[in-house]
Amino acid sequence: MKIVIARSEEEFGKLAFAEIKEIVYRDPACTLGLATGSTPIPLYKEMVKDHQENGTSYAKVKTFNLDEYVGLPKEHPESYISFMTRNLFSHVDIDMKNVNIPNGLASDIPAECARYSALLEKASVDVQVLGIGGNGHIAFNEPNTPFDSKTHQVFLTQKTITDNARFFDSVDQVPKSALTMGIGEIMKAKKLLMLATGKNKADAVYNMIKGPVTTACPASALQNHPDVVVILDQAAAAKL
Ligand code: GLP
Repeated sequence: MKIVIARSEEEFGKLAFAEIKEIVYRDPACTLGLATGSTPIPLYKEMVKDHQENGTSYAKVKTFNLDEYVGLPKEHPESYISFMTRNLFSHVDIDMKNVNIPNGLASDIPAECARYSALLEKASVDVQVLGIGGNGHIAFNEPNTPFDSKTHQVFLTQKTITDNARFFDSVDQVPKSALTMGIGEIMKAKKLLMLATGKNKADAVYNMIKGPVTTACPASALQNHPDVVVILDQAAAAKL
């Protein structure tokens, strides 16, 4: 596991982008695993800037997002498809046919999970971007999710609902459920790029890196992956 500590938000974005750039430059038809949340925004800003300044093309890139809320209309500003469109997809030349996000509006949720798992089974994700929840969750895999899990529906913990309430008008508006890629599918990516910032992540980051490998901290599964890069700011790294 390579651990890098950035000294500013700008440096954080540049360090994260350097990992993605290497892969996109090597293989313009690569497959990127993408994440939502406030943490990867500096990375997406660097991707957009590089696309505008250097013309790096995403026309052949395929993407898989980690998760999506259940029941939130696609056009709701906090749906993960809206987030991705606003922060990345609408600013680069990606072909939306190559974009994959679980459909949280599917009428048959188990069938939708099976569809997404089947797509991931065939895919070969070159790098999966990850954030971490304050309770150590990755994507929406809450504590005690089995490490071999596949795409499934989750009912969010009260901590995650409270943490994510900042994006909504009130805590009551946060969806109670989501579809998430499973930990087993995340771990299949060739490389994992874990991003974490802020002091509210310091305990989870410590448990991910220095704690025991246990389902109590889903991110501790990363200790079992052969190619992980962790990029932190100083606050998130404070307890290491
Ligand atoms: C959310 C997402 C995760 C994300 C995490 C941290 O609930 N499902 O994929 O990594 O919480 O979000 P943030 O980066 O906003 O702190």
